[in-house]
Amino acid sequence: MDFPEFSLTGKIALVTGASRGIGRYLALGLAHYGADIIITGRTVYQLEEAAREIQQMGRRCLVVPMDITRKADIDAGVEKAFQHFGRIDILVNNAGINIPKPALEVTEEDWRRVLDSNLTGLFFCCQAVGRIMVNQQSGKIINISSQTGTVAIQWRAAYCSSKAGVNLLTKVLALEWGPHHINVNAVAPTFIETPMTKPMLENEAFREMVMGKILLGRVGQPKDVLGAVIYLASEAADLVTGHVLLVDGGWTAH
Ligand SMILES: NC(=O)c1ccc[n+]([C@@H]2O[C@H](COP(=O)([O-])OP(=O)(O)OC[C@H]3O[C@@H](n4cnc5c(N)ncnc54)[C@H](O)[C@@H]3O)[C@@H](O)[C@H]2O)c1
Repeated sequence: MDFPEFSLTGKIALVTGASRGIGRYLALGLAHYGADIIITGRTVYQLEEAAREIQQMGRRCLVVPMDITRKADIDAGVEKAFQHFGRIDILVNNAGINIPKPALEVTEEDWRRVLDSNLTGLFFCCQAVGRIMVNQQSGKIINISSQTGTVAIQWRAAYCSSKAGVNLLTKVLALEWGPHHINVNAVAPTFIETPMTKPMLENEAFREMVMGKILLGRVGQPKDVLGAVIYLASEAADLVTGHVLLVDGGWTAH
């Protein structure tokens, strides 16, 4: 019988923003499921420990400095990765920031920083790797969006806008690149415990609000995001594209 393959053995995966939090965990997790990894982030020294862990698993790992708010960094980093491995099969666009503030207090700089990182930078990563994937006539792109691309949460005017943009961008790229056998999907998590959310979740009232919304009664861990990413990166999701997979514990179900 012919069953779908979940293993990523032999695949080359590039992960952005992999120095900590979800991105670091996804890079290690993709390696665990068999992929060789291009681990990228703003500074090399923050990536070296994760790179060592990946190599200890017997996988190849290339460390590439890449600030995704700089298009020149993206183009140079993706070129370096391509020269090294000769292909890129999986792109995980994870790098992102949040500057939580009431809408009336958001400065132009806050707004631009969030949009530049979460939407513009993500697009140019898709474009640089998409070019390689179109030549290959294959590839899987997974954009780390957020439930806030679907539901509003206060103090997140720029963040919600950026993630809603990621959701529709995902569909546009799926439409354009489907004929080239490239799957473009997004994973949209609820609150996941990481350095980004630690200060927010330490606020009792905020944590209570969050727990009141998550039907399954707990905040997420990076592990919860990995399952969705591995599925979308694997052959098992070959017919899935333009999809936003919510990993939200039921937040948006009510
Ligand atoms: N933690 C959550 O609750 C949660 C929920 C939904 C979505 N997300 C999304 O998941 C992704 C990772 O979040 P996290 O919680 O791990 O955050 P984090 O702050 O712990 O880690 C973010 C990573 O992105 C990197 N990064 C930020 N700007 C960058 C840039 N310009 N260039 C390169 N790297 C950059 C950081 O250096 C860091 O490694 C983000 O896109 C975030 O929006 C997080």
